[in-house]
Amino acid sequence: MIKIAVLGYGTVGSGVVHVLETNKELIAKRVGDSIEVSRVLDLRDFEGDPIQSKITHNYDDILDDDEIKIVVEVMGGVEPAYTFVKQALLKGKHVCTSNKALVADKGSELLKIAKDKNINFLFEASVGGGIPIIRPLHTSLTAEEITDIKGILNGTTNYMLTKMADEGADYDVVLKDAQAKGYAEADPTADVEGYDACRKIAILTSLATGSFVDYNDINTEGITKITKTDMDYAAMLGGVIKLIGATHKEGDKIYTYVSPVMFNKEHPLAGVSDVFNAIFVKGNMLGDAMFYGQGAGKDATASAVVSDIIDEARNLNSNLGYTWDETKLNLADVDTMASSYFVRVKGDVKDAVKSAFAGVKLIDSVVDGETAFLTGEITGSELKSKTASFDVINIVKTEL
Ligand code: HSE
Repeated sequence: MIKIAVLGYGTVGSGVVHVLETNKELIAKRVGDSIEVSRVLDLRDFEGDPIQSKITHNYDDILDDDEIKIVVEVMGGVEPAYTFVKQALLKGKHVCTSNKALVADKGSELLKIAKDKNINFLFEASVGGGIPIIRPLHTSLTAEEITDIKGILNGTTNYMLTKMADEGADYDVVLKDAQAKGYAEADPTADVEGYDACRKIAILTSLATGSFVDYNDINTEGITKITKTDMDYAAMLGGVIKLIGATHKEGDKIYTYVSPVMFNKEHPLAGVSDVFNAIFVKGNMLGDAMFYGQGAGKDATASAVVSDIIDEARNLNSNLGYTWDETKLNLADVDTMASSYFVRVKGDVKDAVKSAFAGVKLIDSVVDGETAFLTGEITGSELKSKTASFDVINIVKTEL
């Protein structure tokens, strides 16, 4: 029997216990031994729930128990998760986590400790919820130079954008709905401002490049400026708006950003709806591959955490080699990257737009008193200088 402890009995923590109980026998068969949750750390008590007999409020009960070989951190946030995880690793306990804030911020150090101790720090559930993406990047795509990663990495905002586009639903209503379903972060600002997707694309890019990508360096824009009118324009242009975390390699430059993008309806990411996530990966030999599935929610995320528990239980005495250099990768300035944009400016200023933007495509306005257009490919700096003399309503990157 392999004893484990779970830190945090919230949505994901209770999901982990549920998955371990539901699939107990097949998990035991796959590991070659049974897995037993022996302790659960939480500030709260759960009277009437069988889990109560395992609840502790004192982390030392877990740290000092040499029989506990694996610690499952599903508390979220950097502290106290970081302190607890580091202490566990230094004690020689394997750790797995769903906590993208922790992995993005402290992953380099924690991976190094795990390597030095010949144990594992795994984080499959930190990106894409239940979708296998960390393990494929670490094992299946190792022959590739990854040139592009483009992902719908946040379930809450994808759920919101889908409802806004399909049902004309209000932003606040769909956000509350996503929160009620357990998709959103404790503070949903992290979802709607793109901070959650930013940490996830930082993790994927660190794995793909083998160098630490600091999420603070990633140009990040969320969905708070996207309105029903933008959705109407997108529909008119045969597109949909999605929040994307992306990395693009061009020569020796690596561009990484989080931004809403208006995709053509034929693009594989355009059909990814509701809480589903998808990660589109391009390798120099493989070409395109796409990973698709439930990106948030209790059981899907817990399933990915349990896959890490199983990997650790199967490899109690070996490090699986997950790592990236601690030296920070210098990301290229996204303002030097060429993209196309959908732009709305105030007033009927078609002539001024035509003379400012070569190759511009004017669009019929869906509301009075504004001019809408599609730019050709221009850099972010060109866009800024060319739009400076206009009263801009909104700008959305396009792949139409
Ligand atoms: N708030 C996150 C999301 C949870 O909506 O995708 C999963 O990381």
